[in-house]
Amino acid sequence: MAKKKAEGYLSGREARRIAKENRRITNAFEKKRKRKNVPESEYLTQMANPDNAVEFDNLHTYFYTDAGVVKSVDGVSFEVPIGKTVGVVGESGCGKSVTSLSLMQLLQRPQGQVVEGEIRLNMGDKAYDMTKMPNEQMQKIRGNYVSMIFQEPMTSLNPVFRIGEQVDEVIALHHGEGKTKEDIKARTIELLEMVGIANSQGVYRMYPHELSGGMRQRVCIAMALACSPKVIIADEPTTALDVTIQAQVLDLLRNLKDKINSSIMFITHDLGVIAEMADYVVVMYAGRVVEKGTVHEIFSNPAHPYTIGLMASKPVVGKQVDKLYSIPGKVPNPIDMPNYCYFKDRCEMCVKGCEGEYPTQVQLSDTHFVSCYRYYDKKNQGGEV
Ligand SMILES: Nc1ncnc2c1ncn2[C@@H]1O[C@H](COP(=O)(O)OP(=O)(O)O)[C@@H](O)[C@H]1O
Ligand SMILES: [Mg+2]
Repeated sequence: MAKKKAEGYLSGREARRIAKENRRITNAFEKKRKRKNVPESEYLTQMANPDNAVEFDNLHTYFYTDAGVVKSVDGVSFEVPIGKTVGVVGESGCGKSVTSLSLMQLLQRPQGQVVEGEIRLNMGDKAYDMTKMPNEQMQKIRGNYVSMIFQEPMTSLNPVFRIGEQVDEVIALHHGEGKTKEDIKARTIELLEMVGIANSQGVYRMYPHELSGGMRQRVCIAMALACSPKVIIADEPTTALDVTIQAQVLDLLRNLKDKINSSIMFITHDLGVIAEMADYVVVMYAGRVVEKGTVHEIFSNPAHPYTIGLMASKPVVGKQVDKLYSIPGKVPNPIDMPNYCYFKDRCEMCVKGCEGEYPTQVQLSDTHFVSCYRYYDKKNQGGEV
């Protein structure tokens, strides 16, 4: 940790020292990843449970910035079961996107690096640790096994190419072998129709700016589905859309999931969306998972004070309130995390023990886990994991 001056500014000398140290660390990571002909045994691993599509295990993802090390994801563990939807919630900046980008190896390099932990991807007959995957191999994984839908469709589409060309390119790149241009176009049209675009022939020839936001997001979903991936990551896919279109896109995703039997990791800050979409919920706070469980457990029996606060800050139809609840205080600075529970300074339910080190996980049911001192009584009765 860099020593700061009283005002919180770094001296020039200190900043140069940090930058040099960062380069040394990130160069070592990059060198390893850029190697050629890495034997498969280096990134081969085993699923803890073969019914899972993805397992995040103690993931630490840091950004080595000139102001210090940002611990964006600091020990995240959860799993995405095959064919299920896992909702990841938490306020903005808590590390949701960084968690998913770590799986896709799309972190901003070289400063963003996975420094510890495993991300196990179930390939059917074997499993790969995505954190050890060399660059060479990633191309085969992205799109074919895992694909991603982003928040702002316009940033995922290239404004100077027609929709058809862009979807064709995805198919040609991944599944193009032995296919003629006509085959590929037919598949594109089929995909566009699958995501509910009625005028598929017309849209095939249009440019992105000629489509509405909802249509563009449908095109992005079509591109994500092009190679029938096993896992789809949807990172706030409806946040940039207005409410009616949002509902349509959610419906679409739900229907598609049943059709293609993929697992979905659904990232959002919107609890309403989670309630509609998810089978399991993971609640993140300041780079950690504070609570996880089935959607029923999280909504009917939230345990962590942060989850309880999130529930209370959500408007309820038919319930009149003067003012919506808001959780007091703000998220701690990720460069300088406290060495006790990260939520303690904002928590209105503190108990004895909260000033101690970061709480470990307590198991409340087969599927329900929480990291909070309020449940340590249970833990002492043998509920520890
Ligand atoms: N390229 C980057 N460089 C430095 N810090 C980053 C970078 N990307 C994300 N972060 C930091 O990581 C934390 C988590 O970000 P993110 O995962 O994007 O949050 P969200 O939960 O809103 O998706 C934030 O504190 C953010 O400032
Ligand atoms: Mg995000």
